[in-house]
Amino acid sequence: MKRFLSGITPSGDGSLHIGNYLGAVRQFIELAKSNETFLMVADLHGLTTIQDKKQLQNNIEILILNELALLRGFLSKDEFEKIVFFRQSDVPMHTECQSILNNVTPLGLLKRAHAYKDKLAGNAMEEDINVGLFSYPMLMAADILLYQADLVPVGKDQKQHIEITRDIAERFNKIFKKQVFTLPEPYIPEEVAVVLGTDGKRKMSKTLGNVIAMFDSEEAIKKQVMGTYTDPTRKHATDPGHIEGNMVFTYLDFFGPTSPRLRGASELSALKERYKAGKIADVEVKEYLFQTLMNYFAPARKAYEELKANPNVVTDILKKGQERALIVAGQTMKEVREAIGLVTKYSFQR
Ligand code: TYM
Repeated sequence: MKRFLSGITPSGDGSLHIGNYLGAVRQFIELAKSNETFLMVADLHGLTTIQDKKQLQNNIEILILNELALLRGFLSKDEFEKIVFFRQSDVPMHTECQSILNNVTPLGLLKRAHAYKDKLAGNAMEEDINVGLFSYPMLMAADILLYQADLVPVGKDQKQHIEITRDIAERFNKIFKKQVFTLPEPYIPEEVAVVLGTDGKRKMSKTLGNVIAMFDSEEAIKKQVMGTYTDPTRKHATDPGHIEGNMVFTYLDFFGPTSPRLRGASELSALKERYKAGKIADVEVKEYLFQTLMNYFAPARKAYEELKANPNVVTDILKKGQERALIVAGQTMKEVREAIGLVTKYSFQR
């Protein structure tokens, strides 16, 4: 049994999309069945972009419900209860650890981080970029190292952050001559490393507006599916269609084989053959996708409604998560303080 940790930031409007699900949450669900699981709502990370009290509160609440609904919907009660699900800001060791790690981190390492470089490339002046965004990888390193995680399931856009985390952990262990931190491995299945959006061109992302968000209303999801990029060379339903790069089939490949509507992978291949032969219209395959998604996410959508109607249940999950997270994070910080020389003969027992 290994230990894994991952986090999601309450950015955008806080809701999750099928890119988050395929790129991250699906792996959480699989790994949670047989590993020690720490999942965190990275609310402090949200502050790098959201500096509006109401919006942050709203996003945190939506993200908590979205993530819990997926976990509750797709795991048994026993599996679900073993997960340590908590909020980053409920465990003060994250910022304490970040501030210690700052001292073993060269500036150059952070200057090479994608989020910072992208911001600069997007015409932001260096003077205007907030330090929170710049030191984002440090907070993320603290998130991971505090829990001594072996694995970090994430999408490819987070891979560099795990590399930075490993680098910092190695430096720390070397400088203080003690194996305090476990070096984490990224866990990124190739086929879902980058899930493209409904435009078929860019990574699926809330800010780009190219998402299918599984907890939106049925009408909204239908609209997102109907607007999905298919085959621009195809003018009529009788024209032969292309499957490659066609996002409807890309998504059906992920969700279709489990759909009763398609009754397994062989029906999906039959559907592809009919599309290639010009025997089925775009609108019909989109209807398949819509129904497949509604069916696939039905248990999670049900769990969402239940959780939303029972705020005390949600609070209890977070409280229990905080208690369990504090124990592990507290133990690591004890070792960190000892290793760096903060524990002296005048120290009292913490
Ligand atoms: P965030 O909130 O941007 O995204 C959450 C997770 O979803 C993945 N993801 C995708 N994967 C594939 N295709 C896509 N189109 C796609 N869009 C999003 C992301 O890679 C991520 O795994 N910094 C992190 C949150 C974080 C964290 C951590 C993660 C904070 N502390 C510690 C792991 C460990 C973030 O902003 O992810």
